[in-house]
Amino acid sequence: MKSIIVYASVHHGNTKKIVDAIAEKYGIETLDALETKEKDLSEYDLIGFASGIYAGSFHKSVIEFAKNNLPDGKKIFYIMTSAMGKDFSKSIASAVEGKNANVLGAFSCHGYNTFGPFKLLGGTSKGHPDEQDIRNALEFYGNLL
Ligand SMILES: Cc1cc2nc3c(=O)[nH]c(=O)nc-3n(C[C@H](O)[C@H](O)[C@H](O)COP(=O)(O)O)c2cc1C
Repeated sequence: MKSIIVYASVHHGNTKKIVDAIAEKYGIETLDALETKEKDLSEYDLIGFASGIYAGSFHKSVIEFAKNNLPDGKKIFYIMTSAMGKDFSKSIASAVEGKNANVLGAFSCHGYNTFGPFKLLGGTSKGHPDEQDIRNALEFYGNLL
């Protein structure tokens, strides 16, 4: 099974921490959507889209990447980190619409946030993703296989 995670992690590298842990444990490829805009994904069986959440949404580079490069009929999954630790995967749903994607699951966890006024308070979700978040993410990915 050939797998890749396409990600954007621009605030504190929170999402990249999760993505790197999965890549290291399972030996899969990763792709930074800020650096690479086009890639032929036809040879991949499982494709992940990972992002921090900015104003309620996946990063536009990941959304655009999915829109432009996701082939028809792929198994996909989502990973996100956010201050709220909630599922924001609806924000990328329209990018994969009409591509017959089989969405296997979504992983969300808290990510350290110092955006705007939160900076004055020392930030929110400090220390996240932590070791437990990473263990949960590894388990999530393992269960997809
Ligand atoms: C510009 C900006 C907007 C954000 N908007 C939200 C938001 O709408 N909801 C939320 O829960 N977190 C929000 N956050 C917090 C980030 O989602 C969180 O810190 C995330 O872990 C960042 O991931 P990254 O370090 O991989 O970029 C925002 C952060 C920034 C910088």
